[in-house]
Amino acid sequence: MNELKKHVVDIQNEAFALVAKAKTETDLNEIEIRFLGRKSEFNALLKGLKDLSSEERQAVGPLVNAIKQEMIRSFAEARQKMKLASVDWEKDRLDVTAPGVKLPEGHLHILTQVQREIEDIFTSMGFDIASGPEIETEFYNFDALNTPAHHPARDMQDTFYIKSKDGQENLSLRSQTSAVQVRYMEQHTPPFRIIAPGRVFRNEATDTTHEHTFFQFEALMVGEDINVGNLKYVAQEFFSRFFKTEVKIRLRPSYFPFVEPGFEFDISCLSCGGEKGCSACRHNGWLELGGAGMVNQNVFVNAGYERNRYQGLAWGFGLERLAMMKYDIPDIRLFHSGDTRFLSQF
Ligand code: PHE
Repeated sequence: MNELKKHVVDIQNEAFALVAKAKTETDLNEIEIRFLGRKSEFNALLKGLKDLSSEERQAVGPLVNAIKQEMIRSFAEARQKMKLASVDWEKDRLDVTAPGVKLPEGHLHILTQVQREIEDIFTSMGFDIASGPEIETEFYNFDALNTPAHHPARDMQDTFYIKSKDGQENLSLRSQTSAVQVRYMEQHTPPFRIIAPGRVFRNEATDTTHEHTFFQFEALMVGEDINVGNLKYVAQEFFSRFFKTEVKIRLRPSYFPFVEPGFEFDISCLSCGGEKGCSACRHNGWLELGGAGMVNQNVFVNAGYERNRYQGLAWGFGLERLAMMKYDIPDIRLFHSGDTRFLSQF
């Protein structure tokens, strides 16, 4: 028995001596296999324990196991020492004072930013934000807006029609945010004031100022005593805040089936202030912004209101147009180009 104990201790001593001399991890691996591997003498000894009498086993078993743990520990310790010895402390030093690397950051699209800015100004004036679907029925986009089929005004906006299944209503991509007007009025009783920003579509050739897909924002303010003065005041207030400069308003007679009277809406040129005229306003001092007017009573009737009970003002302005003026953007097609050289400027 004592002989066996001595033998095990000898093995351990031999292993320790070799570990102390090992220079590389490969050395260590070899020593480990030799002393603890499946085919090692030590492993054979461990396996042989089961053939001993239980008394003998109790006498040597704990020692053999303890030595095995000791050897495992010494290998791990030696590996750790080697690793630390191989660190180049100067080279691998973490310089906590080095400036960080700035990661590119995403941000909202310029049109979303402008839309939110517009919404902020109008909500601060007591307006609510309304919306409607981009795929719209002919009813809301045209009929309810006093523009029945074959009405010549339908040709003012080349519409993308969608083939409808039998028996279903005719659908199209809405050509104007005015489609939100009757939708909203069916659900609400005046007085109210809303804006409805959203995407609209027209089957048009594109150029620097025209897109087939663009944004408008509709305004609709309805009550018993709304007049053109309110239209001018609200618009002037909005534009002065949006452009951060005093802006003058000009209304010119125009025609849209859903308003009476109808106007073409101009603001004083932002570059020259409307005084002298410059190249931005083609030397006439004014910039065209879109259509506006007082809601036609037929539209109120289509929404279920009593004729002549209410008056309302409405307009539909192009959002890109405003963004282009504010940020001096020369081509409307840039907005949907996906060109990050353009987008990252805002
Ligand atoms: N919907 C019209 C257009 O897109 C603009 C408009 C809106 C005109 C409201 C009058 C009143 O051209």
